[in-house]
Amino acid sequence: MSAQIIDGKGIARTIREEIGRDVSAFLEDTGTTPHLAAVLVGDDPASSVYVRNKQRDCEAAGIRSTLHRLSESTPQAELLELVAALNADRETHGILVQLPLPSQIDETTILDSVSPIKDVDAFHPENVGLIVQGRPRFLPCTPHGCQRLLIESGVETAGAHAVILGRSEIVGKPMALLLIQKGQAANATVTICHSRTKDLPAVTRQADLLIAAIGKPEFVTGDMVKPGAVVIDVGINRLDDGRLVGDVDFEAVREVASAITPVPGGVGPMTRAMLLRNTLTAATLQSESSA
Ligand code: GUN
Repeated sequence: MSAQIIDGKGIARTIREEIGRDVSAFLEDTGTTPHLAAVLVGDDPASSVYVRNKQRDCEAAGIRSTLHRLSESTPQAELLELVAALNADRETHGILVQLPLPSQIDETTILDSVSPIKDVDAFHPENVGLIVQGRPRFLPCTPHGCQRLLIESGVETAGAHAVILGRSEIVGKPMALLLIQKGQAANATVTICHSRTKDLPAVTRQADLLIAAIGKPEFVTGDMVKPGAVVIDVGINRLDDGRLVGDVDFEAVREVASAITPVPGGVGPMTRAMLLRNTLTAATLQSESSA
């Protein structure tokens, strides 16, 4: 069997167009252009590319974006000051602090300092709490992108066993929360695996839906996948030879799975599309609260 390739790039394009229309309608209604402030500290090449792509997406959807670039040696206090200024700026609706941050800066302190109503990453504890309780303000971009891929590809998740590889705050944990909820592309029975999981392949082989988010290139091999499973690859890893690969050995696993996302062109573009959606949501919430 050769798996259906889930076209994240194409699905994300359709979603961006849909958001672009919603942004136009919002502008017409309120006279306000949604505005995302992206903060990039240092010059990590991958982060620079991500931020540039996010800015390009914003522009195409009619969302204003401003990039705040700070040097690698920026003290934490200076970054906190910038976030405070963006929190107070009525013309900034969404704030994204690109991770990772340099070692002199405590990520949690910074993420906690972002105003919850401008927290388009959904990393603030108030927003995480709302997700846990099933009443989200913002949905976390990568898990939401994965969920939308499942919806658009017609994958049935109700009653399915979803196995998530990775327990990160950005992907693993919130992905589990979205999949156990009631609703579309949800109602799954979820297992989260991590570095201490015993006999990992025995667990992954039980998965009807396998979501890989561990940041280890081509970690998931064909023998770890149940025939007919749906495989979502969140990983983006640059190999020494320059190739970009996911956490899944794509060529081997596509022969076992029923559907699989490629890297690049799978989850990545969906994450970016969901950021646009959250920026529009943030602008809408702020226009309602000031009305
Ligand atoms: N770095 C890697 N992924 C992300 C993300 O989703 N948001 C932010 N802010 N930084 C990241």
